[in-house]
Amino acid sequence: MTDSFLYFEGKKIPFTQGMSVAAALLRAGEVVFRETQVGKKPRGPFCMMGACFDCLLVIDGRPNRQGCMTPAQKGMKVSRQSSETLLGDG
Ligand code: FES
Repeated sequence: MTDSFLYFEGKKIPFTQGMSVAAALLRAGEVVFRETQVGKKPRGPFCMMGACFDCLLVIDGRPNRQGCMTPAQKGMKVSRQSSETLLGDG
C-alpha cells in the first residue's frame, strides 16, 4: 500500500509510512545515490544500517544525509550527491 510520495531528481517516488528514503528509492528501481569524490564512481546503499555511507543523498537541500537512516516523508525533495559535494557540508 502506498501512502505518499517524495521526489527524487524531480521524479515522483511512492513510499509506505515507515519506509526509509533508501528503501523507497530502491523499491522504485533507483540504485545510484551518489558518486565517489575520487573517480566519480557510482555508489548506492549497501548495508542499510548506517555503517557504509554509500547511501548519501541531498535531502531537502541538505547534503550528506544517509538515505537508509532517514524516514521518508511526504514531499521530500531528494537528489543524488555529486562528487563536488563537500563531506563537511552536512
Ligand atoms: S546503506 Fe550503508 S549507511 Fe546507508
